[in-house]
Amino acid sequence: MPTAIGGPAWRALQAHQEKMRGLPLRELFAQDAERGSRLTVEALGLYLDYSKNRITDETLQLLLQLAEEAGVRARRDAMFAGEKINITENRSVLHVALRAPKGASIFVEGKDVVPAVHEVLDQMAGLAGRVRSGAWKGHTGKAIRNVINIGIGGSDLGPVMAFEALRHYSQRDMTFRFVSNVDGTDFAEAVRDLNPAETLFVISSKTFTTLETMTNAHTAREWSLAGFGGDEKSVARHFVAVSTNAGEVSKFGIDTANMFEFWDWVGGRYSMDSAIGLSTMIAIGAENFRAMLDGFHQMDEHFRTAPFDRNLPVLLGLLTVWNTDFLGAHTIAILPYEQYLKRFPAYLQQLTMESNGKHVRLDGRAVGCDTGPIYWGEPGTNGQHSFYQLIHQGTRLIPCDFIAFGQSLNPLGRHQDILLANVLAQAEALAFGKTAEEVRAEGTAEWLVPHRVFEGNRPSNTILAGRLTPEVLGKLIALYEHNVFTQGAIWNIDSFDQWGVELGKVLAQRIVPELESKEEPKLAHDSSTSTLIRRVRKLKGAH
Ligand code: F6P
Repeated sequence: MPTAIGGPAWRALQAHQEKMRGLPLRELFAQDAERGSRLTVEALGLYLDYSKNRITDETLQLLLQLAEEAGVRARRDAMFAGEKINITENRSVLHVALRAPKGASIFVEGKDVVPAVHEVLDQMAGLAGRVRSGAWKGHTGKAIRNVINIGIGGSDLGPVMAFEALRHYSQRDMTFRFVSNVDGTDFAEAVRDLNPAETLFVISSKTFTTLETMTNAHTAREWSLAGFGGDEKSVARHFVAVSTNAGEVSKFGIDTANMFEFWDWVGGRYSMDSAIGLSTMIAIGAENFRAMLDGFHQMDEHFRTAPFDRNLPVLLGLLTVWNTDFLGAHTIAILPYEQYLKRFPAYLQQLTMESNGKHVRLDGRAVGCDTGPIYWGEPGTNGQHSFYQLIHQGTRLIPCDFIAFGQSLNPLGRHQDILLANVLAQAEALAFGKTAEEVRAEGTAEWLVPHRVFEGNRPSNTILAGRLTPEVLGKLIALYEHNVFTQGAIWNIDSFDQWGVELGKVLAQRIVPELESKEEPKLAHDSSTSTLIRRVRKLKGAH
């Protein structure tokens, strides 16, 4: 596919962007009384208001043309058809198959993968049911009360985010914890008040070779065994694995009967709805987990079939390209006004940045424009009292995605109205600001006026839904997955590999023995790294 960057729509957007400079949001709204209801899309119970972006109908038409020139449609269809669109790893990209309903067919190399997906889901439901009901007994006959997921990256962030997001629906008499960091503190704090006899570890690793996860898994094994006088037979009752690598799982000592499989066509950051979601399923039950999968699937179908000008993920992806490549934004703030979504921004960081943090196109040539923006964020209203100052009055353009729900899962007096008033007010303030005249009219001293002016013209999207349910969470996640896909297709990059994480891993493996060796090691690094290694060796000895 030839790149659309620098093509007719791209060049037209560059010229158009010049025109847009003199058209602030205040003016765009003044010109069109219907703008706030017109530039919106509602689908699957999600309402997207994108009217507070610095766009006109012409911008939108050009962005839609760009999507056509970039071949987003063909690329999307190739993904759904199981083609190996992850070209650098020669793999299909089929997270959509993880939520395909029973009876659907999706083929990889001539084999329908949907039946296997449902077999694993049933196997997961079996374990989840037994653990939740207490029928699964630990080595000493006690029921499991604590579940600890050990994993990192996609094998951690999705489970943590989903557990927090759906905590309302979780089994409250059980404890769920997540260990990811190789920093021993993470493990130590997770188990310090737990009884090994009541604790089940879910070792989640696609490859089962990841240094952090395997280090934590071995420590967990020692901790658990110590609780049973070293009886190796206990491992089968206290460890299960989620992996694509049966060989490594059984080498670790976990019975492969207690292994939950997934496949190399599931990328780590797209895997929370695979067996990697086992801890989520234990927490919320199989029925809620299936409702979440149904939400994912509904968004998949919307992405696959809705016309691009009414297609939620396509519109969000195109607006991101507009803000990033034509308005010069470097970041996107994800601002959920829902406390249960507190880990959603962290989850999206891997999804978006590991996917689209690429500098070359599929053909290996330089992309020629900015790619993946930096995603970050915190729940509102907390962020308002911290970093929003910079978004309102700083010198940088920071597009924001506000996410809010009509109903709280914990209705308490006026809390929800106050929360919702705040999210609406923030989007309004960012878009329209406050002029010097308005500030003066309040009787502000002249010298203070510039400090109190809000320029406005800061773009944002507002996404509204009724209530945070498992189904809605599935829709939201798939919305961002396909948003990321759309961006990557425009940039013509491989959104599904992650070679950029490799070099640091290899270098760390070299440095470990240099830190551990009794003898002073011969160091052949650059002078900074060598000096730091010597300094760390000294500090290690200091108490
Ligand atoms: O280091 C990056 C990465 O490969 C992610 O893409 C992945 O989600 C994570 O490590 C964990 O990998 P695994 O599930 O194989 O342990």
